Amino acid sequence: MAQSSTGRREERPASPPAKSGGTLSPLVVERIAHADIPDVCALYKHVWDAFEPPLPAALLKSWQPTPLEFTTWMEGVTYFAARRDGRVVGSVGCAISDGSCRIVHLAVAPEGRRQGVGASLVSAATEWARHSSCNSLWVDALERFKAAHAMFRQLGFAEVGVLHRHRWNEDVRLFEKLL
Ligand SMILES: CC(C)(COP(=O)(O)OP(=O)(O)OC[C@H]1O[C@@H](n2cnc3c(N)ncnc32)[C@H](O)[C@@H]1OP(=O)(O)O)[C@@H](O)C(=O)NCCC(=O)NCCS
Repeated sequence: MAQSSTGRREERPASPPAKSGGTLSPLVVERIAHADIPDVCALYKHVWDAFEPPLPAALLKSWQPTPLEFTTWMEGVTYFAARRDGRVVGSVGCAISDGSCRIVHLAVAPEGRRQGVGASLVSAATEWARHSSCNSLWVDALERFKAAHAMFRQLGFAEVGVLHRHRWNEDVRLFEKLL
């Protein structure tokens, strides 16, 4: 089903389609509603606890919100979750400002990677940016997030710079895509 003008809680097939490999159930990407918050918080906890090498404590604290903290994250940011078999396997936020969409808090469960989930979430963010009359999307990714760098390049984002010792004293790579 196509997204409504509010983009609210409407199921639609993920785009691009999830890779099937013959065994995977369909991936559904939909806008997050309040009822989804506990599952999404559990996803972020799982993703960042499992990250190797382990992340600094300050970063973990910042990226593993409680449901109440996530409610605050949702102010002014539109989140989408990807589900397979009803289980949240990925999430992303779109923060729109001055005609540009910043992709935030993109994460896919470790056991669900390389199955097109990240690409489907970025596709949902791109659709949302277009729907919101944005001219571009951008994202910053810590230097250590090599998979994210590879994915954004693969999805047609250009690497446009590096901010040194920017967040948690780590270098951050900037990627953008013009719409
Ligand atoms: C980055 C991340 C979101 C990618 O999610 P994903 O669901 O595995 O990505 P996809 O399966 O959609 O990958 C799409 C393409 O991106 C590229 N890609 C993704 N992960 C890659 C990796 N580890 N190495 C090389 N290329 C990769 C590939 O070209 C891939 O296509 P392919 O599988 O056909 O080769 C996921 O690895 C993740 O959650 N990482 C930890 C959190 C993080 O880094 N978040 C980003 C913050 S900016």
